[in-house]
Amino acid sequence: MSDATEPNRVGQCPFHQAVAQDAPLTPTGCPVSPRASAFDPFEDGYQQDPPEYVRWAREQEPVFYSPKLGYWVVTRYDDIKAVFRDNLTFSPSIALEKITPTGPEANAVLASYGYAMNRTLVNEDEPAHMPRRRALMEPFTPEALKQHEPLVRRLAREYVDRFIDDGHADLVDQMLWEVPLTVALHFLGVPEEDMDMLRQYSIAHTVNTWGRPQPHEQVQVARAVGKFWQFAGKVLEKMREDPGNPGWMQYGIRKQKALPEVVTDSYLHSMMMAGIVAAHETTANATANALKLLLEHPDAWRDLCEDPSLIPNAVEECLRHNGSIAAWRRLATKDVTIGGVDIPAGAKLLIVTSSANHDERRFDDADCFDIRRDNAGDHLTFGYGAHQCMGKNLARMEMQILLDEFTRRLPHMRLAKQRFTYVPNTSFRGPEHLCVEWDPMLNPERADRAALTPRAAVRIGEPSAQAVTRTVTIASIDQAAHDIIRIRLEAPDGRALPRWTPGAHIDVECGSAGLLRQYSLCGDPMDARAFEIAVLREPNSRGGSAWLHAHAKVGLSLRIRGPRNHFRFDEQARKAIFVAGGIGITPISAMAHRAKALGLDYELHYSGRSRASMVLLDELVQQHGARLHLYVSQEGTRNTLDALRVEPGTPVYACGPARLLDALELASAAWPADSLRIERFASVLTPLDHTHDQAFEVELEDSALQLTVPAGQTLLGVLRKHNVDVPSGCEEGLCGSCEVHVLAGEVEHRDAVLSKSERESNTRMMACCSRAKGGKLVLEL
Ligand code: HEM
Ligand code: FES
Repeated sequence: MSDATEPNRVGQCPFHQAVAQDAPLTPTGCPVSPRASAFDPFEDGYQQDPPEYVRWAREQEPVFYSPKLGYWVVTRYDDIKAVFRDNLTFSPSIALEKITPTGPEANAVLASYGYAMNRTLVNEDEPAHMPRRRALMEPFTPEALKQHEPLVRRLAREYVDRFIDDGHADLVDQMLWEVPLTVALHFLGVPEEDMDMLRQYSIAHTVNTWGRPQPHEQVQVARAVGKFWQFAGKVLEKMREDPGNPGWMQYGIRKQKALPEVVTDSYLHSMMMAGIVAAHETTANATANALKLLLEHPDAWRDLCEDPSLIPNAVEECLRHNGSIAAWRRLATKDVTIGGVDIPAGAKLLIVTSSANHDERRFDDADCFDIRRDNAGDHLTFGYGAHQCMGKNLARMEMQILLDEFTRRLPHMRLAKQRFTYVPNTSFRGPEHLCVEWDPMLNPERADRAALTPRAAVRIGEPSAQAVTRTVTIASIDQAAHDIIRIRLEAPDGRALPRWTPGAHIDVECGSAGLLRQYSLCGDPMDARAFEIAVLREPNSRGGSAWLHAHAKVGLSLRIRGPRNHFRFDEQARKAIFVAGGIGITPISAMAHRAKALGLDYELHYSGRSRASMVLLDELVQQHGARLHLYVSQEGTRNTLDALRVEPGTPVYACGPARLLDALELASAAWPADSLRIERFASVLTPLDHTHDQAFEVELEDSALQLTVPAGQTLLGVLRKHNVDVPSGCEEGLCGSCEVHVLAGEVEHRDAVLSKSERESNTRMMACCSRAKGGKLVLEL
């Protein structure tokens, strides 16, 4: 993103398309494309499936102006995350503004109730916001949230008890609205009130803020919102009489005494109302969306019923695939460029987070619903950065407990025939009804009371990808070269596997000791029937390849994790150079395959000891013809790297033995900066020695937090404790999942993921194992 220097002019639009002469113009004078002109988030298309509705934009016109809404619409992951990261350029102040201005009659009704909704947290600018957020964070930490678990468990059980013998239910009406509302009231410290009344108020607040009520509805909505405002005020007054009671609002009242300028009266009244909606409607909708999604995917539902350890990651995938917040808003405070489009100061932005969550650039096979997805937790449904949802871990906990209750007690539940409807609005999203049915005679608890006992421990916080495995079966094994077997893995019941992108790998559990080894995928990324890996028998291996060579046989089940990709191929580059040595050809072959399919200019350099030891050789010769350069040491040819002509904008992807990669790193000193991208397949990690660990400070720039990492604790652990999400996998410096960006400070790297030049650049580190060399690090988090 960069500051704009000149406004766009007609005909200079970066997404220039054939548009009619009389097409409407953006405020910067650019013609609006027909699809952008037609965009209307209150239409059924958006309501039913927001990411699908803006797929065209994500693919062709990622940032566009909507004349109907008067907003700039942003649809891609990287652009939206960049907007979230910079809350000074992109102010959150319009987050709760009425997206459809109301008429004088409705305004008069609101005024008659003294309605004065003001800044809370979510729409407060800096410098006021961060001190308030920090002052009020403590009740949201994973430790503090534990105390709410018994209530959620009790409610889940009692509500299911009410209808389990009926054989049918509308889960929204009969449970999913009230349970999160009760939890929200409990968390906030509000006495349990008339649930139906609060539900009506909340819906009115949603329509008032993010909807387009017709003129005749506006007055009705205004009346409900006014009553909600008055109700919030009365509850607050009562709380003030006895602020010693538990609850987040009481915590705020107590904080007000110490920090009156930070926690103001106006804040408390506005938060009282907004808090009820933030804490309950979001979670009610998220759970309804999750159950709908799971029941629409019976394989995934069955897997959860059988293996509750999958629930935390399934919650994350549900939030990614069909979260309860579809879009959020920001205001540009200065001229700026987003995704190549100039946006003027004062522009309002609709950032479609649900579209970001389906962006193929971030999520492989993004539309596929995969409860084992490795990076599901990267979704933007909770926002990101300084304003990221404070209640995310309460919501996650509730969703996990509710899913545990349903999968245990109603595994035979299915969706009834119905058409789903949504309250028309841009942001809050969940079905108004969710009708399900089942045969009560088959209720597991009738046969075995154990079905009443919770199976899964709740994980409060970001789920760990460590717990998520998928079972595959060996479909075939070929001797691909001397000492190399090629293994084809399929899902046991013939289900589709997720598509992957070149450079991706899977972790394979080798043997019962839980030995985990990484293998790059080398088949066809688009083939959803199988994963293919090539495994070299290595005399010095840590046991993984030896185990596979000894035990792999057709029909054997294996547990794997992933696919995940930390070695991505940039499809935008016009030319690419691929260098592989030995078994390192596996990820490189998939990249070359893709380069060919895209019609890119590329060359492939592959070296090995002898032809007999070089895997995939026939395939590569056939596919790449003259683009393939072979170096066979037995035949006296060696890749001296002299032939590589690396021009600016040409990435060099390399994988192979350390000797080759070290030579490439040396050679790359003469190439344009950042040309070399490597993956080391042979990493030997020595166990970490913690005896000389020193405490260090970290400053999180996006979240404006200062934390201390004591000796004996990891950065990852400290981040989690303070509610900052960082995904993880191996938690021993092997997999690259926990990478964080370093803005300042020197890192003591202890991982086996980063290359020498990456280490030296001090711009990234693995949070699970690496530490600060000096006293402090500044991180982009
Ligand atoms: C902020 C989503 C549950 C309290 C937000 C934001 C989003 C969001 C999108 C704005 C983030 C940004 O601007 O970067 C959700 C979703 C939920 C959920 C999808 C459920 C699945 C909750 C719960 C609570 C809560 C249960 C409280 C108990 C808050 C607060 C903020 C916030 C206080 C403002 C944080 C700030 O601006 O510093 N939430 N939320 N949320 N949420 Fe949530
Ligand atoms: Fe695997 Fe940190 S979690 S490298």
